[in-house]
Amino acid sequence: MRVIVQRAMNQICKRLIDRALPGVLDDLRAYSRGSETTGTQWITLWMAVRGISKTRPAWILESGTGASTLVLAAAVQKLRRTHSDYHGKIISMESVPEWFDIATANLPDTYRDVVEIVLGPREKFEMAMYRGYIHANIPQHDYAFVLLDAPAFSDAEGIAFCADIFKVMDLSRAPIIHGVVDGRASSVMVIQQIFGTAAARYWHGLYAAKFALPRINFRDTNLRTTRDFSTSIFGRLEFVKFRR
Ligand SMILES: C[S@@+](CC[C@H](N)C(=O)[O-])C[C@H]1O[C@@H](n2cnc3c(N)ncnc32)[C@H](O)[C@@H]1O
Repeated sequence: MRVIVQRAMNQICKRLIDRALPGVLDDLRAYSRGSETTGTQWITLWMAVRGISKTRPAWILESGTGASTLVLAAAVQKLRRTHSDYHGKIISMESVPEWFDIATANLPDTYRDVVEIVLGPREKFEMAMYRGYIHANIPQHDYAFVLLDAPAFSDAEGIAFCADIFKVMDLSRAPIIHGVVDGRASSVMVIQQIFGTAAARYWHGLYAAKFALPRINFRDTNLRTTRDFSTSIFGRLEFVKFRR
């Protein structure tokens, strides 16, 4: 059932993207001849296109370069055409040199004015009681939208999570950071634990989530147990420090 829902939703979202961004599917077909990317789901890409057109972010961070980069670039270029005061730009992070070279060589010239692809090897990132992985070398900008689709997040210790969304909180001055996650349930789980379930709802049938998160200082080391954690009558603890 889950697979059927996911397949149907992906087909619908592919059509919506084709209608919203005419010509982008041709660009993607040409791109896929030069690069065997694993690809981001159409569902996630449609959520990103909608989010970008609604929130008009000045800076977008893409974690994981590939076919998705073309879709984000087409969305930004459309917004630039329809809103003369909009000058949005995309930083697309790639952690693997081989994929960085392929993506840089294959990015169509038409998108180069809005996208910069940056090589950033994966790097450990520790925050509060969580451990994750980010891309190194993320340039400092006021990111207000993130597409989270990399880097690899498992290691000898088990499953960690993709943490670029929290690295962005160090770099950006945007008060709210919008974005989407493709798969990566562990990343969504950390977001839910810190900000609450409503901050990023996740269903296996979509295999994706969108979020809008206030920027927080997770390095605050003060602990006020009875204030920072709530308990239910069944003894369940919840970390609520950043929900106020
Ligand atoms: C889920 S992929 C990112 C996909 C990208 N957003 C796209 O639309 O193609 C995550 C990472 O896997 C690596 N990767 C890309 N293509 C790959 C492939 N064909 N096989 C294995 N790894 C790949 C890259 O390092 C990439 O950043």
